[in-house]
Amino acid sequence: MTEQTVYYFDNNATTRVAPEVIDAMLPFLREYWGNPSSAYHFGHRLAKDVEEARAKVAAFINADPREIVFTSCGTESNNSALHSALVTHPEKRHVLTTSVEHSANIKFCDYLQKQGYALTLLPVESDGSLDLHLLEQSIRPDTAIVSVMWANNETGVMFPVEEVAAICRSKGTLFYTDVVQTAGKIKIDVK
Ligand SMILES: Cc1ncc(COP(=O)(O)O)c(C=O)c1O
Repeated sequence: MTEQTVYYFDNNATTRVAPEVIDAMLPFLREYWGNPSSAYHFGHRLAKDVEEARAKVAAFINADPREIVFTSCGTESNNSALHSALVTHPEKRHVLTTSVEHSANIKFCDYLQKQGYALTLLPVESDGSLDLHLLEQSIRPDTAIVSVMWANNETGVMFPVEEVAAICRSKGTLFYTDVVQTAGKIKIDVK
């Protein structure tokens, strides 16, 4: 059999787990697999490890550890953010996002639309950029949340999320950004 070189070009979709991450996780998969929320020692002793992990993630993005909520995946994070905005502002029934968000977001927005929410999917220019003037004009009094991803998972285009956040702040609207493709690649400072 001849040796073949395999080149992998799908790293943004699925990334090989870094060896140091495997090393850090193995003790918890092999020995300390208890439930950290439990009352008994075998589980409860792990709560401090979860809190340590929370503090590390918070420092990574310049947030407060109390602001970090662990989820199982990006899809759950995206859905939870949109859902939370809607349930905490029941009088606001409009979601503003872009037509190029990850399908995890678009499919949830389709579902929200079927539930009777109003949805605006902003188009992008031919170079993948976003018209911020259009975005600002599209924010309505009943907009519960504006969701604009940071780095696109297919094109790599980065949206100016700081500017989008500033527009949302000036309008008093919640802003959410999906940073699945950004974390670990460029510095993130949520403040
Ligand atoms: C930008 C973006 N958002 C969300 C997701 C969904 O993440 P997950 O597969 O962890 O649910 C992905 C997955 O690659 C992504 O690239």
